[in-house]
Amino acid sequence: MGKVAVGVAVGVAVVACAVAGMVVGRRVGSRRKWKRVVRVLKELEEGCETPVGRLRQVVDAMAVEMHAGLASEGGSKLKMLLTFVDHLPTGSEIGTYYALDLGGTNFRVLRIQLGGRRSSILSQDVERRPIPQHLMTSTSEDLFDFIASTLKQFVEKEESGSEPSPVRTRELGFTFSFPVKQSSLRSGILIKWTKGFAIEDMVGKEVVELLEAAMVRSGLDMRAALLVNDTVGTLALGRYHDADTVAAVIIGTGTNACYLERADAIIKCQGLPTTSGYMAVNMEWGNFWSSHLPRTSYDIDLDSESPNPNDQGFEKMISGNVSRLSIPFILQTPLVAAMHEDDSPELKEVAKILKETLGISEVSLKVRKLAVRICDVVTRRAARLAAAGIVGILKKIGRDGSGGTTGGRSKSDVKMRRTVVAIEGGLYTSYAMFRQYLHGGLSEILGEDVAQHVVLQVTEDGSGIGGALLAASYSSIPQRG
Ligand code: BGC
Repeated sequence: MGKVAVGVAVGVAVVACAVAGMVVGRRVGSRRKWKRVVRVLKELEEGCETPVGRLRQVVDAMAVEMHAGLASEGGSKLKMLLTFVDHLPTGSEIGTYYALDLGGTNFRVLRIQLGGRRSSILSQDVERRPIPQHLMTSTSEDLFDFIASTLKQFVEKEESGSEPSPVRTRELGFTFSFPVKQSSLRSGILIKWTKGFAIEDMVGKEVVELLEAAMVRSGLDMRAALLVNDTVGTLALGRYHDADTVAAVIIGTGTNACYLERADAIIKCQGLPTTSGYMAVNMEWGNFWSSHLPRTSYDIDLDSESPNPNDQGFEKMISGNVSRLSIPFILQTPLVAAMHEDDSPELKEVAKILKETLGISEVSLKVRKLAVRICDVVTRRAARLAAAGIVGILKKIGRDGSGGTTGGRSKSDVKMRRTVVAIEGGLYTSYAMFRQYLHGGLSEILGEDVAQHVVLQVTEDGSGIGGALLAASYSSIPQRG
């Protein structure tokens, strides 16, 4: 993710369900009906409430599930996937590297030139292509042939006219932003699809093998040096800019987080050799679930209508991207944001969106206000839950100011280290109200004293650049697997 236009392509379908349900389902002509609508809105508000007590329960549940997911395979809905990334860029990386970023409705190819100092990207070329809709549900061969041929054209274009490259093979970081069970830095099988992709023959297959076979078919001399999730790329880019970065979060078309974990805390694979004693863990937090999450009847309807019921529950409450939903009401996030942030007295933008997108015309001002209120309720809940998720990670790694599990000390006694969380995704970067609610949630849960040490740092294009940075950083290290 990263680029705004891509990042904001998110459907907050819960909002649309609620708006449409109230406005269409109960045409709000009479006074009696209006009272009913108000009652339904109140129920929605109550159902979406996230008081700080509840958020803290979510924090605790997140930390508990993280432990469980690290303890055993299948121990939690949080997969806590190993990434085999045990060191992050330091700034000393130098040379030209490529990245391929596949994780949403667009894919990108990049070429970056690194200067050998922290934050010194000397040049960067990017090409973005939408993935034709039919390829998202076609065969792995069709998808990867399309990707490999685009990559080949890009490489040829970039290298034409430049000095012939040195003999070494071009190194590529492959960012693949779906749940993958990795067995080494450059191998792993797809566990399942998310975000509207459904190429059945690919589930259970080695992702890099499929890419490399397509590169061979297209005659491209390139090696995938590693396979990473977009959160891991974001963590790498965050660390490249700021050595205090310990975690990364994406809140865009999908949502997920990764963080640096002590290797000895990853109980499910004791004895894991790492050079640093740490490893980045891809949480796949989109699948997190807890009975403390405030779930409404709209969430239940949305889930059962989705292509993946009972799956990605946290993601559906935050990012809400449920493409291929069979019900006709979907609002893309830019539209939700536009309605929410419409400050015209007549709420003209709201009227326009209701008409043009949901086909609901002639909407009175009081109903438009109601639609704005719904955007607010659902956005606030999403942002505050994301904040609770972030604090869950901080708690797990002892950076929430609570002094870890030993207890006994008050928050003010605990010396807090500066803690940076790299963050990307259109919901956060392009939706001011979302950002505001998320920050508010963090401060409420942590308390101002602690929250001031936690920096949410927006990185730009971690999924692309981070993949190339990791390829650079690992290219000098002999690989084990
Ligand atoms: C995927 C994750 C990814 C996230 C953000 C989720 O749907 O399962 O692997 O990191 O989206 O792109």
